[in-house]
Amino acid sequence: MLDVDFVRQQFPSFSNESTSQWAFFENAGGSYVPKTVSDWLHRFFTEYKVQPYGLSAMSIRAGEEMDMAYAKMAQLMNAKEEEITLGPSTTMNMYVIAQAVKDTLVEGDEIIVTNQDHEANIGCWRRLEQSGLIVKEWGIDPVSGELGVDELRDLVSERTRLICFSLCSNVVGTMNDVSAVTDIARDAGALVVADGVSYAPHCVIDVQELGVDFVLFSTYKTFGTHIGVLWGEAGRLAQLPSQSHYFNANQSRYRMNPTGPLHAEIAALNGLFEYYDTLHQQHFDGQTSDLSGRAKDLFGLFAEHESALANKLLDYLRDNPKVRLIGKDRARPGERAATISFIPVEKPVDEVAEHLARKKVGVGLGNFYAVRCIEALGIPSEPGVIRVSMVHYNTAQEVDRCLTALAEAIE
Ligand SMILES: Cc1ncc(COP(=O)(O)O)c(C=O)c1O
Repeated sequence: MLDVDFVRQQFPSFSNESTSQWAFFENAGGSYVPKTVSDWLHRFFTEYKVQPYGLSAMSIRAGEEMDMAYAKMAQLMNAKEEEITLGPSTTMNMYVIAQAVKDTLVEGDEIIVTNQDHEANIGCWRRLEQSGLIVKEWGIDPVSGELGVDELRDLVSERTRLICFSLCSNVVGTMNDVSAVTDIARDAGALVVADGVSYAPHCVIDVQELGVDFVLFSTYKTFGTHIGVLWGEAGRLAQLPSQSHYFNANQSRYRMNPTGPLHAEIAALNGLFEYYDTLHQQHFDGQTSDLSGRAKDLFGLFAEHESALANKLLDYLRDNPKVRLIGKDRARPGERAATISFIPVEKPVDEVAEHLARKKVGVGLGNFYAVRCIEALGIPSEPGVIRVSMVHYNTAQEVDRCLTALAEAIE
């Protein structure tokens, strides 16, 4: 079982005077960081915050730490180092990939996007209609919020070149059926772009297992610094035109990152890997040799813990006539993330969210840039929905606080 007390000891936010008073449930917006991450960041800023890869000892050290972070990110994802781009955010990385893909397609080629995704994996593709590409929408069921595989099959044609979807919705919380999507794409000869932002805080992204062509996620939601990770299969990446300066066209790290890398934030990702190692030592006898394996051991524990927390909340929301729950009403590892959205049906949603905030229960209120999803569910995107998003450091006691405050607000 996950030793949640030990976990929480690693996060300064749980002992800090102000944040520790909150039961924090807006982790899908951005998670807390363990001390190891802020330590690495602080050390970088105070000891070697200079242009890396130069001649001074500080500059060499800065570059070495960045190199280490690229290498470990690749290990974590079971990928090759040259397949990893560390950019400023997922939205930016997605935009860059879309621009690169555009140049490989011709008028009349088709791209499938969902209306379930965060706009990061929709808008940049829809924009390509201006270049003569056809964008088709894979729509959710307006009641359940789920994507149906048959509906995808119906959309695919001999002109389909790309299918863009999320591994997990940031509103509905469902883990989508990746293998069904990749099978359909392979049969059609199309590539798959997966947004892994809402998936990565709950499951290890193993690119070999996933079988998609591109996957992206944001480390500020996975207990790290503010970085967007883009993985592209080496062969696929090589087919895309570089989006960087002409003299960087053969540098794998920069081909899909036209900006300079965020030195300190990249180096401080080492603190995230250190955190995983600390947790692994605490929970498992003996060493699992590779980082990906250690992370999978841990995320197995996280998933059990998070599902138990999610089910505690879902037990209250399920069949409750005073709320409309979005997504599955039971959580099981690998099927539903502990990202739970709902609206009260008899009270204004913002009033309920404000009551929770007064009780220092920190939930999300809004559309979370999944505007199309929320509107397709027949819910106004402003003020949107309440989202309770839990990760491995949340506790049953925090869920109890949430339930008490929620009952006060909606009963
Ligand atoms: C599912 C999902 N995709 C993409 C994004 C965008 O990520 P970033 O903020 O790194 O651009 C978010 C951010 O909330 C998200 O939740």
